[in-house]
This record gives sequence, structure tokens and C-alpha cells, in this order.
Amino acid sequence: MKKLSLSFNNAIILTFVLLRACRTGQQKPGVRQSTGVYQYDNEKKTAVARKSGPYYSDRQAVTGKNGMVASAHPEASQVGVAILKAGGNAVDAAVAVQFALAVVYPGAGNIGGGGFMVFRDKTGQAFTLDYREKAPEKADKDMYLDSAQNVIPRLSITGHLASGVPGSVAGMAEAHRRFGKLTWAQVLQPAIDLAEKGVALTEREALGLNRTKKSFLQVNPEKRYFMKADTTDWKTGELLIQKDLGQTLRRIQQQGRAGFYEGETARLLVAEMQRGGGIITENDLKNYQAVWRDPLVGTFRNYKIITMPPTSSGGVALLQLLRLVEPYPLRRWGWNSDSTVQVMIEAERRVYADRAKFLGDPDFVKVPVNQLIDKDYLKTRWSDFTFAKATDSRAIKGGTLPGYESLETTHFSVVDQEGNAVAITTTLNGGYGSRVVVGGAGFLMNNEMDDFSVKPGVPNMFGLIGNQANAIAPGKRMLSSMTPTIVEQAGKLYMVVGTPGGSTIITSVYQTILNVLEHGMTMQQSVNALKFHHQWLPDNTLFENGAFSDETIQKLQSRGYKLEQLTNSLGRMDCILLRPDGTLEGASDPRADNTSVGF
Ligand code: DON
Repeated sequence: MKKLSLSFNNAIILTFVLLRACRTGQQKPGVRQSTGVYQYDNEKKTAVARKSGPYYSDRQAVTGKNGMVASAHPEASQVGVAILKAGGNAVDAAVAVQFALAVVYPGAGNIGGGGFMVFRDKTGQAFTLDYREKAPEKADKDMYLDSAQNVIPRLSITGHLASGVPGSVAGMAEAHRRFGKLTWAQVLQPAIDLAEKGVALTEREALGLNRTKKSFLQVNPEKRYFMKADTTDWKTGELLIQKDLGQTLRRIQQQGRAGFYEGETARLLVAEMQRGGGIITENDLKNYQAVWRDPLVGTFRNYKIITMPPTSSGGVALLQLLRLVEPYPLRRWGWNSDSTVQVMIEAERRVYADRAKFLGDPDFVKVPVNQLIDKDYLKTRWSDFTFAKATDSRAIKGGTLPGYESLETTHFSVVDQEGNAVAITTTLNGGYGSRVVVGGAGFLMNNEMDDFSVKPGVPNMFGLIGNQANAIAPGKRMLSSMTPTIVEQAGKLYMVVGTPGGSTIITSVYQTILNVLEHGMTMQQSVNALKFHHQWLPDNTLFENGAFSDETIQKLQSRGYKLEQLTNSLGRMDCILLRPDGTLEGASDPRADNTSVGF
């Protein structure tokens, strides 16, 4: 009997494993079977002991018939869905999610930062809104340099001087004014409730706040924001109540953008700047405007890609990357085979070199967008490529090596019942931004100034290099890599895609799109799939453990590619795909608290 039950158990396990293998196999036509061992350690919240992928975890998609919200935090996604259920459209939900994230996800959700929105309405018309931060009027191109013209370490990263003039509230007010259906008060209310009644901390957020405590105290010595009354460490599930933030949100609810850019909030923000040696003035706040820009639209095979134009570099780079690999049979070569990876890396190398040279705020510099995405131009970029050997980045342009900083931006995607779709990526830049909390107003300020090229050729916190096109000037927007994107198939909504990750945003979005379009993955598999990144300089390829098989590693190395296995992960995607039967597939990243909620 004992023997029988044992073998019965084994049979169940074996059947499960086989079924899973078959199911996985069926779901990813075109994906080469992994030769290694995949394992996800639930306790460590990381993938371990795995030789090759292709997935970070086997997280399953969330489906819905009527609407879907995919965001970095379960509470924020719930807020979005509640707004949709109350009759709001995708823009109403997106506005509510942006404000909710500012409460429940202080590391990146924000009102003290900025972002980009790509909106495709149910008729297929597309709009993009640039609510990126701006350099204050007193900013100067040499403001982070000492008298010997050397960069003063961390000045553009931590503290009051690191902040650009925030754009998020202006962006949301403008998006809602133009497209919202519910009242402004309605879309603000959930965030106010979360701030005043408190939000239970996830394990990840508790950890983040505990890790940042010291630097919060350094920057804000007299404040105890984001800290427990007794200053002991947060534990998972404890309630974070933010009364001052609640009041700020109430002012925004009552007065619209003026509740942030004028009156009490503006007064508190300017006082905070003066206290800490910052330069943002009342004038800066009053003058800040979000701008509608023409969406950047291009094709990849039979798909239409609707994405963010400059001030983001993301859309231009994404279209360049997709078009550069378009002539190659990626599908036949297989997911992350040596040839597939090789052409993707070589495309990335060239595109990031272009980014450094040409991209900046289009209100200040002429960005040759159409030339950069032109197919004939892109063809010329392959002229020095050979499969035999890695191109040397120095041969394309020289540079120096960077360090990497903790990554916190956030992306969310919303699709409503009528098929309106919103992709928003929003950020404070680094995790918890400049660490400056506006006294009395309870919100964190961005450290977006670091996205400028503070000195030509000197890498920023993401190792990105820039030049004049992205030099600091008063009122100018700093270049971004954020790439909120919507993909259309045969004139219909197909995918809503985006992620945080600094310079790696572009390559993560690129891979996530190719995984679906070229390698036949589902949206969730594509998000789960392990990723890699190359950005021209430094000249190495970062990859998540398991992203490459031993064979791919060996072949790439033999051709001179420098590979660096990451100890952390790439991307925190929040994507939605419209399946042929009309079902929405919400795919949130298993690498963090990201959650899709559908109905
Ligand atoms: O706009 C940008 O490109 C950066 N400020 C984004 C920063 C980011 O994604 C940080 N983390 N994940």
C-alpha cells in the first residue's frame, strides 16, 4: 500500500512536470527549449540555480473581458479598476493610478516627478503627453561642476539641487481636462483615502523604506516622513499613513493644478528648496506646463508602433532597434540564440551611440527624428557589422565606465471597456528620488536633473553619456529613456507596453515586443522571459541569470562579446495584450510587486 501511494505521488509529480513542460512548449512556438534548470525561489523572491531560462518565473497572466490595469502595486491596480467600474474611461483610471502610486509606491510613484503618457483612443487616434520635469529658471549648464570643471559627486542625485520642476500634477490635470469622463474629485479620492487611512506595506516596500531611512535622515534631518514614530524598521503589513500627503492631495482635488503649483503647496515646496539650498522658485512652478506632442509612429513588419517622441529618447531608440533587426530572421534563429542576441546587441550599440549624439529636448535642440528612424539611414548603420566578431564600441565612439544605481521608475498600462488604451511611465528618477521630502506637504522630490548630461562625455547614474543636445539650460527638459508604447495590429489595439529601468527601459521594451511578435510568446511569457541589455558604453552585455544558454554564451564570447551576468534583474514590465477573442491579457512583472487586475 505504502509502495503504491509513493509511486502514485511520483506519478502525479511526473505528470505535473510533463504537463507543464508540454504546456510551456505549446505556448511558445519559436522559442528554443531551454537546456538548463529553471527554478524560482519564493522565499528569496529570486530565480536560483538555473543554467538557462527562458523565464524568470512561471507567473500566469490575469485575464479580463471589460478592462485591465497593470501597475507596480496591487492597491494602485485595484484603484484603476474601481474607477473603470464606476464608469470612468482609461484616462480617468490612469490619472487615479498615477495619484494612487504616489501614495502606495513612494519609491517611484509620484507627484514630485514627471512622466509621459501615450494614449490611443477607441477610434485609433493617438496622443502623447509630455509631463517631464524641467530645469529650473536658475539652472545653469555648469551647476554640478566645481571650479576646476569637475563633476561634484552626487550633487545631481541627492538633495535639493537634484530636482527638476515637477510635471506630474500638470500632466494629470491636462490629461483629465481633455479626455476625462468622471470628475476630477472622483479620480483623486482613492489616493486621498489611501494616504489618510494608510496602506499596508508590502515586503518590498518595507525593505525599501528601511534601506533608505539613513539617507532620508541625512537629507531631511528634522523630519520623520516615511518612518515609524519610534524609528524602528517597518515590517510587512504595517500601515503607512501619510497625513500631510493627504492634505496636499486634497488641495489638488479642490483646486486642480493650482493646488500644487500655486498657493499652500507651492509655498511649502519653495520653502523646502530654500531650506536645503535648492533653486526651484514660485515662478518655475507657476510656469510649468505639460505639452501634447505628436506621437511617434512607425512600423515593424505588419505592426504599427505608437510611442513617445523626444523629450524621451525611448520611442526613437525603440523604432531604430526594431527596424535594424527587421531584415533578420529572428524567429527562425530562435529566442536568444547566438545570432538573435548578436544582431540585437549590435543594434543596441549603434542606437545608444545615436542617442548620446542627437537626442535632447525638441523645444531646445533640433532632433533629427525622421532621419534617425529612416530605413536607408539604418541600413548604413550595419555597414561595419560582421557576424564573425563583436564591433568595438570605441570604433563607434569613445567613453568611460559608469556605476549603476538602484532602479525605480514605474510604468502602468490601462485598457477600458471601449478599447481606449493608456501607457504611462512616470518617475522620480532614482529610488525615492532626491530623498528630499517637502516639509508639511509630505511628498518626495525627483532627482531628474541627473538625466541631463551634466558634463559632455561624463556618464550619468545609468552610465548614459550625452553632449550639447542634452546639456542643462533653464526651462529645458532632461532627456529620458522612458518608452511607454502601444502596438497596433491590422488597425486594432494589440499591446500596451512599458517598464522602468533607466537606460535599460528601451531594451526591455524592445525585447518584450519582439518576444511576442517574433517568438510567439504570450504577453505574460514575454514579461517573464529573462532579459539582457547593451547600451554602447560601457561595452558589455548585461544579462539576467539564465537569459542565455551555455551555447549562446560560449558562441558570443568566442566572437569577442563581453558578457556580465547580473545579480539583480532587468525590468518591471506592466503590459496588456488584446487577444484575438477580445480577452485582455494583463501581464505584470514577477520581479516585484507588480499586479494586473482585470474584470
Ligand atoms: O527618464 C529616464 O530615463 C529615467 N529618469 C528613468 C529612471 C528609471 O527608470 C529608474 N528606474 N528604474
